[in-house]
Amino acid sequence: QPLMIAIDGPSGTGKSSVSKAVARALGVGYLDTGAMYRALTWWCLDQGIDLSDQAAVAREAASYPLEMGTDPAAPSVSVGGRAIDAQIREGRITAAVSQVATNLQVRALMRDKQHALMQQIASATGGVVAEGRDITTVVAPDAQVRILMTASEEARMARRSKELAVEAESTRSQIVDRDRIDSTVSQFHTAADGVVTVDTTTLNFEESVEAVLAIARG
Ligand code: CDP
Repeated sequence: QPLMIAIDGPSGTGKSSVSKAVARALGVGYLDTGAMYRALTWWCLDQGIDLSDQAAVAREAASYPLEMGTDPAAPSVSVGGRAIDAQIREGRITAAVSQVATNLQVRALMRDKQHALMQQIASATGGVVAEGRDITTVVAPDAQVRILMTASEEARMARRSKELAVEAESTRSQIVDRDRIDSTVSQFHTAADGVVTVDTTTLNFEESVEAVLAIARG
């Protein structure tokens, strides 16, 4: 039976880099569900759709031509054949994505799409590591391995500021404020039943990967 690993947590915990490293170590595929919300946000803005028009955004969520590359060594995101890996990390997308992600019709469509993708990847590669905000609770509550990655607010801001080469304080809005908005639709600050917490506040990258692998290997 293919190994399904679900990893949730707020931004700046090291979730993405750790998830990719774990997938590589296990030789399985990788799914970045946040990239799917970011790609939808990019697509809607590109199409001139008003993000506050929930029905219009949900229509796009049902039909946008998304392609996810799920090799953990080279994950990729395209829409309609256009690679948008750099574009979806731009500040304007980070600032707008929560508006799309709090659209409940969008979330219902994403849940189904992400669940199906996880099955597809798992049967093709023998397993999958999927990361996001609601994978352990909504998308794949049936995954054999379910992990919540946490870290103190200071540690998360410090990591993001290093990544973006900016002052820690200037990441507050995209870390703390975004979490507050995202928390209204997904519960990713405390572990749900059966979910194992990995607190990375004092762990470096390698230690975080080892902690997750140890849980995955049981
Ligand atoms: O930048 P960061 O790594 O924190 O976030 P991300 O994983 O790229 O996710 C971007 C945004 O997508 C989040 O802020 C959420 O609004 C949304 N998201 C979600 O609602 N549910 C998921 N499973 C994954 C992401």
